[in-house]
Amino acid sequence: MKITKICCIGAGYVGGPTMAVIAQKCPHIQVTVVDLNKERILAWNDENTDNIPIYEPGLSEIVAEARGRNLFFSTEVDKAIDEAEIIFISVNTPTKTYGKGKGMAADLKYIELCARQIAKIAKDNKIIVEKSTLPVRTAEAIKSILDNTGNGVQFQILSNPEFLAEGTAVQDLLNPDRILIGGDTSVEGQKAIQVLVEVYANWVSENKILTTNVWSSELSKLTANAFLAQRISSINAMSELCEQTGADVNEVAKAIGMDSRIGSKFLKSSVGFGGSCFQKDILNLVYIAKSYGLNEVADYWEQVVIMNDHQKRRFSNNIVQTLYNTVADKKIAFLGWAFKKDTNDTRESAAIYVADDLINEQAKIVVYDPKVSRRKILADLDYLETRTSEENADSIITFDNPYLSCEKAHAVAVLTEWDEFVQYDWQKIYDNMQKPAFIFDGRNILNKVALEKIGFVYQGIGN
Ligand code: NAD
Ligand code: UDX
Repeated sequence: MKITKICCIGAGYVGGPTMAVIAQKCPHIQVTVVDLNKERILAWNDENTDNIPIYEPGLSEIVAEARGRNLFFSTEVDKAIDEAEIIFISVNTPTKTYGKGKGMAADLKYIELCARQIAKIAKDNKIIVEKSTLPVRTAEAIKSILDNTGNGVQFQILSNPEFLAEGTAVQDLLNPDRILIGGDTSVEGQKAIQVLVEVYANWVSENKILTTNVWSSELSKLTANAFLAQRISSINAMSELCEQTGADVNEVAKAIGMDSRIGSKFLKSSVGFGGSCFQKDILNLVYIAKSYGLNEVADYWEQVVIMNDHQKRRFSNNIVQTLYNTVADKKIAFLGWAFKKDTNDTRESAAIYVADDLINEQAKIVVYDPKVSRRKILADLDYLETRTSEENADSIITFDNPYLSCEKAHAVAVLTEWDEFVQYDWQKIYDNMQKPAFIFDGRNILNKVALEKIGFVYQGIGN
């Protein structure tokens, strides 16, 4: 089967970058990314590719190269479904906020809507690719919807989870550790797998393309995220012990990371992991385990999230305690709001929870983030429903200049590891702060010795 047209439903952090790279690497395939969100599609089509809705290093250049040639962003969902031979589903699968499984299970309503839409529109055989992260055995539900409401056409469902990390999405897509494709074990299923393998083989060497059955592929994605998050919670658990014992968590991480069985990556102690995936996917895993009655399995993984919540709360408690047990009317300058550097994404960022705690203590929070707008910051706080929007707006001041943000502050808190924070003129910041001038480095990126020499009271994580 020669592929000429691909459609992707969902123009978000995964659909957008992934399809841009497929279009760049496969100029012979027309790639159309569709979304119900008109504003988002409009931004993807902005004449100036610096204004596309997602900030990722290198992405705007790829979009500039492929857009209008063989990469299209559109709200015409039905047309794109109708024309494509392969349809990627890359819609959001957030944690359920209602009903059975509330706060734990993945909400699959957007997935189901896509399946029903495809069933309604498709008039010829299609390959449906699960790009979203889904509970194991979701392909079964999708197949059932397609087979029962379709127009008698054949659908093959593949699972092709995405492993990109935000901030490095383009590099991860161009040079992935592996591509995972799960499909049905039947002859037709194996043929469909081969079709998708050939798309990726345009730039990924075949020994990195792994094919499995559908269930292994679906479960591998949840497992990978659980293992990654578990490393962070493990090192964060040690950071608290380090603070009590005089050990330094950076030294401990280096020492254990040199053991090739452990490895050195993903061992940075921090104020806690954020992002749209880790917490959501682990809670989903916990829910699935419980639904099979596997309570010990569920409890084991839930502890990763419990530890992460503890780490965030510990950070805000420590600020209050260190500032003489009160931050009421004190100015706390936040450097960073994004959940990690090099992204404008703030979903589940530790900064949101730390700010919420400190506002409860009546602190004034002054935020500077190079890529996050005031509107987004306030929306993040409003989402927690801790207080009214007006109260949130009164408690948050934003500047697009870090020096202004830190002026007259009682403390600076580093919440995101943006490179630029390291380069600042810290003497200048110190001179304009209240004394004693405190720094709470939630990312262990600043130079403790140099800052203490200037006069700061410095506290990192785990040292
Ligand atoms: P996102 O919220 O940024 O994008 C999803 C998009 O889908 C939205 O723009 C939404 O409007 C659109 N959408 C929802 N229902 C639709 C419908 N019926 N028709 C058309 N458009 C629809 O989400 P994301 O971060 O791109 O994540 C998508 C999936 O990929 C999730 O399952 C997530 O777990 C997974 N994932 C995310 C990442 C990441 O780093 N963000 C990495 C790997 C996997
Ligand atoms: C993650 C997975 O890495 C990726 O494979 C998957 O596809 C989506 O989820 P992402 O959430 O975008 O990617 O970023 P990641 O680099 O994993 O960081 C997640 C959070 O963990 C961030 O808040 C980051 O700051 C934090 N982190 C990461 C640490 O605190 N310490 C570390 O050592 C690494």
